[in-house]
Amino acid sequence: MGKLRQREEERLAPGHTGRPRPLRNLLLLLWTLLNCGLGVNAQGPGEWTPWGSWSRCSSSCGRGLSVRRRQCVRFPREELCWGDTHEYRLCQLPECPPGAVPFRDLQCALYNGHPVLGTQKTYQWVPFYGAPNQCDLNCLAEGHDFYHSFGRVLDGTPCRPGTQGLCVAGRCLSAGCDGLLGSDAREDRCGRCGGANDSCLFVQRVFRDAGAFAGYWNVTLIPEGARHIRAAHRSRNHLALMGGDGHYVFNGNWAVSPPGTYEAAGTRVVYTRVTGSEETLRAAGPTSEDLLLQVLLQEPNPGVEFEFWLPRERYGPFQAEAQGQGWSLRQPQPQEVDPQSPESPAAPTVIPPRTLGPTPDPCPPCPDTRGRAHRLLHYCGSDFVFRARVLGRVRQAQETRYEVRVQLIYKNRSPLRALEYVWAPSRCPCPPLALHRDYLLAARRLISPDGTQDWLLLPHAGYARPWSPAEDSRVRLAARHCPL
Ligand SMILES: *[C@@H]1O[C@H](CO)[C@@H](O)[C@H](O)[C@H]1NC(C)=O
Ligand SMILES: *[C@@H]1O[C@H](CO)[C@@H](O)[C@H](O)[C@H]1NC(C)=O
Repeated sequence: MGKLRQREEERLAPGHTGRPRPLRNLLLLLWTLLNCGLGVNAQGPGEWTPWGSWSRCSSSCGRGLSVRRRQCVRFPREELCWGDTHEYRLCQLPECPPGAVPFRDLQCALYNGHPVLGTQKTYQWVPFYGAPNQCDLNCLAEGHDFYHSFGRVLDGTPCRPGTQGLCVAGRCLSAGCDGLLGSDAREDRCGRCGGANDSCLFVQRVFRDAGAFAGYWNVTLIPEGARHIRAAHRSRNHLALMGGDGHYVFNGNWAVSPPGTYEAAGTRVVYTRVTGSEETLRAAGPTSEDLLLQVLLQEPNPGVEFEFWLPRERYGPFQAEAQGQGWSLRQPQPQEVDPQSPESPAAPTVIPPRTLGPTPDPCPPCPDTRGRAHRLLHYCGSDFVFRARVLGRVRQAQETRYEVRVQLIYKNRSPLRALEYVWAPSRCPCPPLALHRDYLLAARRLISPDGTQDWLLLPHAGYARPWSPAEDSRVRLAARHCPL
C-alpha cells in the first residue's frame, strides 16, 4: 500500500504546489499516534516531500543536466522512503561556440601548475579516456606517460566526447525518451514514449506474385505515418521506391541506383544490396507522405518480405486500398495484428490474378518520328542499331517488353545475342512494334552500377522503322554522318 501511494505521489509531484501537504502530514501524524496508542508498530517507509524545482542547466552551452530534489519525511521507526532523492534531466542548450574549452578539459586544467602528487613537481593536465571508469576525472600529465585519477568528474560531464551519456555521481547515464537520465523509458513502435505498441498496428506480409512479366510490380503502398519500415528479398530482382509525387527515390526508370541512404517522405531510407544475395530497405519513419514500394522483376519472384507499423487510424484505409488493388493478398498474412477485425473486412487469401490481358488499349497517338534528322540523331546516339523480328510482347503497367530475334547488326557497342529482350519505357510504346514483323531498331544499353544487369531500351519516340531495303540503305548511310 505504502509503495503505491508513493508512486502516485511521484507522478503528481510536478503539478503540486504543496498546499495539501500540512493536512496530510497532520493526518499522518494522527494516524501514527493512533497506531502507537493501539500498540501497533509503525512500520513501512516514510513519505516524500514534493519535488523541488529543476535547477539551472549545468552547462552554459551544448548538453548538460539539471537536477531536482525531494526529501524523505519519516518518523523514527519508519523506514527510508522508497525511490530516489534526486532526479536528473537532460538539458540541451545551443551548441558551444567553436574553440570553447570542454567541461572535462576545464576540470583537468584546474590542477595545472599545482603540486598534486605528493612532490613539488607540477604538470599540465589534459583528459585521458583510456582509463576504466569514464566518470572518473582521469587526466594525463602532458609530455609524460602517466595519468592520474582525481576522483569523480562533476555531474553533467559528458562520459566521452561524441556520445550521449552524461556522468552523474560517478556513473555514466543516458537519457530515456522522457528526458530523464538513467530512465529506461523508450519509444514504442508507434513513437510514444513509454507506450505499449497499442496506438499502431503491425503490418507484415510477403509479396509472392508469380511475376509472369518482367518489369515493375506494385508490392505495397506504405501509407503516410508508417514507422519501422523494412523490406527484403533474395533474388536478382530489385526493390524500387516511388515517392508521393510519382518520382522514384531509387531504382526507377530502369536504372539501378547505388546502395546508400536516400531521403524520402521526411525520413532516411537505407537501401542495401549484396550482389546476388540480398537486397534490403529500411526506414525509421514516420513518413510524411505515402510511398509506393515496387519490385523490378527480371526473374521469378521468390517473395518480397515487408513490414511496417501503421497508426491505427490509417490501417482501415490501407487495408481497403490493398484489397482494391489486389496487393499482396494472395498469400496468408502471418503475424498481422488486427484487433479491429469486425471493422476491417477479412482479407481474402485468394484473389484472381490481375489480367493485363488482351483488352484494347486507349493508347494516345505517337509523335511523328520520320525524317533524316531523327534517324541520324538516334543512329549516332544509340549503343545498338540492328534489324530484328518481334517474336513476343508483354505489356505491363509502366513498360512493354518485346522479345526479338536479332537478324543483322549495323552498330553495336557490345555483343548482342540472337534472342534479346528490348524494353520500351511505357505501356503505350512509341512507336509500337507489331508482332512477327521485322524492324530496324536503335537501342540504348542500361547497365546497373554493379554491372550485374543490363537492358536494351527503346527510348520513347526513338527510332523503330519497319524494315525495308530502302530503310536499310538509309541506315547504312547514316553511319557515315555521326560525329566522331
Ligand atoms: C513493442 O514491439 C517491439 C517489436 O515487436 C517489442 O520489441 C517491444 O518489446 C514492444 N514493446 C512493448 C512495450 O510491448
Ligand atoms: C501501382 O500503384 C499505383 C499507385 O496506387 C497505381 O497508380 C498503379 O496503377 C499501380 N499499378 C499496377 C500495375 O497496379
